[in-house]
Amino acid sequence: MIRFSILVASDQGSAGQREDRSGPAIAALLKESGAELLESRLVPDERPLIAATLIQMCDRGADLILTSGGTGFSPRDVTPEATLDVIERQVPGIPEAMRARSLAITPRAMLSRAVAGIRGRTLIINLPGSPKAVRECLEVVLPVLDHAIAILT
Ligand code: MTE
Repeated sequence: MIRFSILVASDQGSAGQREDRSGPAIAALLKESGAELLESRLVPDERPLIAATLIQMCDRGADLILTSGGTGFSPRDVTPEATLDVIERQVPGIPEAMRARSLAITPRAMLSRAVAGIRGRTLIINLPGSPKAVRECLEVVLPVLDHAIAILT
């Protein structure tokens, strides 16, 4: 069984100015596929804080961390940079696949700078911020997650 954690990067969400619907969407889809949620955190778009939270989630034994938000062009969008700060090996095929499939739905898919990579025995995947984008991107990666985690541990 995959043990996963969720990190939602959102200035407005973490300040209580907007309800986060992406975290619950991720949790529901992963639980449906039989995974166990370890923790879900909502943090502002601060690169060092996102990086530190990712490291903490890895240290607590997550097989998989799904982030949501902060992958676009706004000056505050730093989730990919924070992810690159903590991963040891990149997994370009995952964001390539998400973007390729998402481009059939919206050309705006090319505006997500999402990355994926491995830190120790944890796979970290960036997802865009909207609940719609979360569902569309998770649909792409869900079928390979069991195998990905099995060969990682
Ligand atoms: N990918 C999918 N599958 N569906 C979407 O609706 N939205 C795009 C893109 N990727 C989208 C998507 C948009 S509009 C943006 S700006 C980028 O993701 C970055 O989103 P983020 O800044 O919330 O991470």
